[in-house]
Amino acid sequence: MTAPSSISTIQLAADRLRSGGVVAFPTETVYGLGADALNTDAVDLVFTLKGRPRNNPLIVHVSGPEMARRVASAWPKRAEMLARAFWPGPLSILVPRSLALPASVTGGGELVAVRCPNHPVTLALLFEFRGPIIGPSANKSGMISPTTAAHVRESFIDDDVMVLEGGACEAGIESTVVDVMSTRTRVLRPGLIGADELSAAIGEPVDVYAPMGNIRTGDSLRPGDAFPSPGMLERHYAPATPAFMFASNDWERLLATSDPVVVITHRLRRVEAPHRIIAMPPEAADYAAALYAALHEADRSGAPVILIEQPPEDGTVWAAVADRLRRATTRMP
Ligand code: TXA
Ligand code: MG
Repeated sequence: MTAPSSISTIQLAADRLRSGGVVAFPTETVYGLGADALNTDAVDLVFTLKGRPRNNPLIVHVSGPEMARRVASAWPKRAEMLARAFWPGPLSILVPRSLALPASVTGGGELVAVRCPNHPVTLALLFEFRGPIIGPSANKSGMISPTTAAHVRESFIDDDVMVLEGGACEAGIESTVVDVMSTRTRVLRPGLIGADELSAAIGEPVDVYAPMGNIRTGDSLRPGDAFPSPGMLERHYAPATPAFMFASNDWERLLATSDPVVVITHRLRRVEAPHRIIAMPPEAADYAAALYAALHEADRSGAPVILIEQPPEDGTVWAAVADRLRRATTRMP
């Protein structure tokens, strides 16, 4: 593994942020594309570099609750309890935005997502910079999220982006996004921290907003209400190569095809050339950590089609993996 960026490199990165530049940084989930959250032009540059729709809000990374309050106009008790329980960690909390924050950060919306990432390089960057840093995942909009510095460099090879090195991301999928401002707290993007853990930390029930527009429990959202998180609707996290999910009992039928395919599977499988296998770990957390690297590898393999064997969906982590796989793939006809 490449050594993590040194403190002097991190200081240079902080200078770069101060002068309105862009710095990609490692976190425990995925790499982020960072800029000064309070600098309108720098925020604009990140939207442009990513090719991100302007109505899709950005997460603001902070060193802890105190910095979070600088970009928030209120800091509800639920936010404080969740921050205490899970920060630094893979949890983004939606709170009312402060007017000090450029409106573009929240896509014009009233709420801002704040998160304190659990990675020594980026915590050091936040302390050196002494201010909030926006950080969407460091990939071009709609493509696979990066879990190594090399993934980031590949995507922004032609752009003026400094990339901090922090090794492969441990968690591997993006943070849980939780809205503490509606009547009942609700998860808008599933991640490694599940509704049960959130609920235990705040001592109240927590709903899970189902990906395609229905709420699974509770009644805080009715059909026809504005979708609370624009980024949650799109096809996303997707390789450029067409990717399909298949059920285990379709294995024989699929491999009968003579067109070369690359298969991502968590089971012990064998294929004949020209097919190829990318073997995934059978445990949920390990699978999540390996997921985006596998998608990147499959995408680069040259095979015209990627097949992904459907993993289990039970439990928080598998559910978060299933969410990402649904967005990365097209259903088998
Ligand atoms: O783990 C992560 O969250 C990573 C690392 C770099 O921290 N960041 C990340 O950012 O995944 P991004 O921009 O790729 O995804 C942020 C998601 C989007 O789906 C966006 O729509 C949602 O969070 N989001 C951000 N701010 C929001 C807001 N104010 N209201 C509703 N949804 C928001
Ligand atoms: Mg993203």
